[in-house]
Amino acid sequence: MNLKPLTLSCPVIAIDGPTASGKGTVANQVADALGFHYLDSGALYRLTALAAARANVALTDEVAVAEIARALETRFTGETILLSGNDVTHDIRTEIAGQNASLVAAMPSVRTALLERQRAFVESPGLVADGRDMGSVVFPAAVVKVFLTASVEARATRRLNQLIQKGNPAILQDVVKELRIRDERDINRPVAPLIRLADAQLLDTTEISANEAVEQILKWCKNLPAFK
Ligand code: DC
Repeated sequence: MNLKPLTLSCPVIAIDGPTASGKGTVANQVADALGFHYLDSGALYRLTALAAARANVALTDEVAVAEIARALETRFTGETILLSGNDVTHDIRTEIAGQNASLVAAMPSVRTALLERQRAFVESPGLVADGRDMGSVVFPAAVVKVFLTASVEARATRRLNQLIQKGNPAILQDVVKELRIRDERDINRPVAPLIRLADAQLLDTTEISANEAVEQILKWCKNLPAFK
């Protein structure tokens, strides 16, 4: 999968972890604090699944879905995400969009199709990238690798609160069940599974706030030559 040797032109911070561990919030805040760019790699899998559905491509047809991934026409502008010129910022955040993203993310040729697109986000002065395989596959030379996690219960409670805020009430047990299914698929797939690397710092946010997690990552960065 690692198609060519990768040297990074500027520092990359890789933040990997399971669904609803708070990666997006934390990675965004770290990027803001450092003035770095931000890559939400999960959004690319969500966009691929959505584009496939909109093109009436079956999510089981790996060849066709990979072609969709290669041809994706996307733009990230601030908080807004465009797909072929249409604002899909909210459409890609639904539970079903997440489940579909997890399905297409298990396809090796889809991951290959998105690899260089993700690496193209590296831009001076630096990048914070979040996902499942940022430290293992996409940016193995990242200067800081973080495995951000939290207990299933804590993650489910956070996800439930987000759903309620968006006016989509759900039942905690259902959210726990969905998270376990997604964890299971992301951890056990043969390509680029979610794993904690030996060189990744473990950050468990079950008992700490997003702000505290951000502070911890910034502390790890401060000690490195790339940030002096
Ligand atoms: O982080 P997220 O929930 O937006 O990700 C959606 C799905 O995409 C998730 O179930 C796993 C997959 N994903 C992946 O396989 N690799 C990544 N780097 C990012 C996301």
